[in-house]
Amino acid sequence: MNDRSHLTTRAARAGAHVAPGAALPLVPALHQTTVYGYPDLASLHRVNNGEERGQAYYRFGHYNGQVLEQVVADLEGAPDAVTTASGMAAITGTVLALAGAGDHVVADRNVYGGTRSLLEAELPRLGIEVTLVDGADLAEVGRALTPRTKLLLVEALTNPTVRVPDLPALSALAGHVGAKLVVDATFVTPALLRPLEHGADLVWHSVPKYLGGHSAAMGGIVSGPADLVARIRQTVVHLGATVGPFDAWMALLGLKTLGLRMQAHSRGAAAVAEFLAAHPGVLRVHHPSLSDHPQAATAAKLYPLGTGGMLSFELSGRPAVDRLIHRLNGTIPLSPSLADVSTTLIHPATTTHKDLPQAELDALGITDGLIRLSVGIEDPADLIAELGAALAG
Ligand SMILES: Cc1ncc(COP(=O)(O)O)c(C=O)c1O
Repeated sequence: MNDRSHLTTRAARAGAHVAPGAALPLVPALHQTTVYGYPDLASLHRVNNGEERGQAYYRFGHYNGQVLEQVVADLEGAPDAVTTASGMAAITGTVLALAGAGDHVVADRNVYGGTRSLLEAELPRLGIEVTLVDGADLAEVGRALTPRTKLLLVEALTNPTVRVPDLPALSALAGHVGAKLVVDATFVTPALLRPLEHGADLVWHSVPKYLGGHSAAMGGIVSGPADLVARIRQTVVHLGATVGPFDAWMALLGLKTLGLRMQAHSRGAAAVAEFLAAHPGVLRVHHPSLSDHPQAATAAKLYPLGTGGMLSFELSGRPAVDRLIHRLNGTIPLSPSLADVSTTLIHPATTTHKDLPQAELDALGITDGLIRLSVGIEDPADLIAELGAALAG
């Protein structure tokens, strides 16, 4: 067939049989394919039946997703992990896999707005009862848990006021009623805290934040014991919520610098928090390194390496917020995400938390003057100079 007249056939099969050399690429190759070819039925069946690790059709799992799963499971100290198309796909798959009609879910009311929407808008329709609590108030959490409770959902650090739930204590409370403690560790990553070591049953992330690190790769990931991960994987396949190979590959590139980035984010945020706390134009700063933080002691115990780049601070009101955003345009942009290597800010009351009633905003401490800053890896002295200039007067 090796002549011009069979060009159409040869082109259609292009590259499928070119074997790689003996050496492995330092960066695992991108397998941008939705399907794989097999030499015989028996080997395809072994992969489909889960007897052998492999790839068949991308929605069931593919090479780049599996590489990311192995790497993150290892970093989390977990037996297994499953990748998903987004962070929301990770928590949706987890909840639907582990709770059903007649069950009960307890969640910290401080969780990310998207997670809260999922809980409040979707779960009651499916017959799953949801109770929201203050995750830092152990007595309130204890009162909410019942023998019907399947899941206790919290964030390792909350958004935007950076509260620090006591994970070992929450794990003990969940354990009493047989509920699983599920921790969103997007703000901290395994470089700063491995929730499974502190009693969590499952840990999950929105990948475009710190894990991927550069606001480029989309995805989610859930790590934990093999039996729970297998159930979640099945639900994720049913939902069709598989991560794309290119996103998984990009996330892996970002992960290589995770440890260094988290050190720089933590150092920068602590320095900026100290500067803002001493500034006369700033009414209040929320950061676990400050002595007036309500969970400073828990933070010191759980986070010996720092708490990452997230902090929030309060100005006198909306005019001061608008002025600051205007003055920082060009250096620290207003951006509806977080955890990039460059510093960004957001106004939670009118963006991430805009759908909450005023009473809820008051309960969460989200005032009109509150700004959340996601401190990047820039030189902290530059950030302090830029913030200082923008706050002047
Ligand atoms: C803390 C946290 N968890 C989960 C999510 C949801 O992840 P995704 O946007 O990847 O679906 C976000 C999104 O901003 C988040 O900030």
